[in-house]
Amino acid sequence: MEQQKQDFNIYIASEADFEFAEQICQEMEESAKARGTGIAKRSPDYIRKKMIEGKAVIALTKENTWAGFCYIETWGHGSYVANSGLIVSPLLRKSGLARLIKKKIFALSREKYPDSKIFGLTTGLPVMKINSELGYEPVTYSELTQDEDFWAGCKSCINYEILMSKERKNCMCTAMLYDPKDHYEPAETKQYFEQNAKGFERLFRFKEWKLLRSFIKKDGKAIRSIKGFFSPLFNF
Ligand SMILES: CC(C)(COP(=O)(O)OP(=O)(O)OC[C@H]1O[C@@H](n2cnc3c(N)ncnc32)[C@H](O)[C@@H]1OP(=O)(O)O)[C@@H](O)C(=O)NCCC(=O)NCCS
Repeated sequence: MEQQKQDFNIYIASEADFEFAEQICQEMEESAKARGTGIAKRSPDYIRKKMIEGKAVIALTKENTWAGFCYIETWGHGSYVANSGLIVSPLLRKSGLARLIKKKIFALSREKYPDSKIFGLTTGLPVMKINSELGYEPVTYSELTQDEDFWAGCKSCINYEILMSKERKNCMCTAMLYDPKDHYEPAETKQYFEQNAKGFERLFRFKEWKLLRSFIKKDGKAIRSIKGFFSPLFNF
């Protein structure tokens, strides 16, 4: 069932939301573990900093319990913006909340940084779908910021070794970008995604097979947990 905006309070987070920082970080980590995929780890202090700066969107239920979160990061002296750390409380998933949060953080990013390119990295088809509805298109890593601080953020991800072995040209994540000066209409990127969704799904699976394969020892024992290797990619 499609969740309605009025089911949640979705707003720009502030100091008043500090109490949710620990829970948000914990959920980010647990979700990554459950999926067996990588994530750039963030501390509660980092989340609080985003809240103070007015660079985060939070969703609460009508009962004021935490429902979802996402924040903005800037790179290359503001020429690039990333909407990162999208997370929805497990019990509230698959009801349209991520889409609502993404819409809000995208609007906030456009308002605060109208000239910046907005990008995201994801290992999941649902996020690709949402991004496509906003006008993002899939790009190669060379079109993302080359700011060293951004790539340093990947160090805490379990796939960092893969990223470096590919000289930062490829990894498990797929990159998507919205360029304010040169972009297709959201209706076009949405249609493109719909027509190619099966291909993107295959690409994710191919990456799992191709990139993670080098992490399997010759004797067949996985360096990484076998659960991670075979976990269905889209089963959050
Ligand atoms: C990814 C995540 C944010 C999606 O949140 P959500 O609120 O469930 O997403 P939505 O309900 O807004 O779904 C958006 C679209 O993706 C689809 N979708 C969501 N989860 C899906 C899943 N597990 N498998 C297939 N499709 C899925 C929905 O059907 C929806 O499309 P539709 O409306 O056309 O049917 C949530 O699963 C989550 O927090 N996961 C863990 C953290 C994570 O992976 N973050 C993303 C990092 S890039």
